[in-house]
Amino acid sequence: MIHITRRERFNAAHRLFRSDFSDEQNMQIFGKCSNPNWHGHNYELFVTVKGEVNPETGFLINLKALSKLIRERVIEKIDHKNINIEVPFMQAKFASTEMLAMAIWDELADGVLALGANLHCVKLYESENNFVAYFGN
Ligand code: NI
Repeated sequence: MIHITRRERFNAAHRLFRSDFSDEQNMQIFGKCSNPNWHGHNYELFVTVKGEVNPETGFLINLKALSKLIRERVIEKIDHKNINIEVPFMQAKFASTEMLAMAIWDELADGVLALGANLHCVKLYESENNFVAYFGN
């Protein structure tokens, strides 16, 4: 069993808020990320897959194909977009890094399987110091 990781980057806008809270309550709970006029992050996404090395190629997975999968299913839908409003796989979901990592997992899992590996971890950095890791459960 071996793990391999592909990094991709995107930037996107969001706002963390509950519509049933006042702006003041939202600011108290969600801090600066609840700014009513939106703000953005430069996200860094690390997709780790696992499996056995193919003895013929010496590879676990074709990284070009993995990159293409991530770009088609995730990056093209979210890069330079507003996560709360216009990202199809985040519709009706809270725009937190946690929810985003879980949604990205759901976007990628079957595609990774079709490439002959298993999705192991979606790690998503919202900033240099804050990141989440989701292992599928
Ligand atoms: Ni934020």
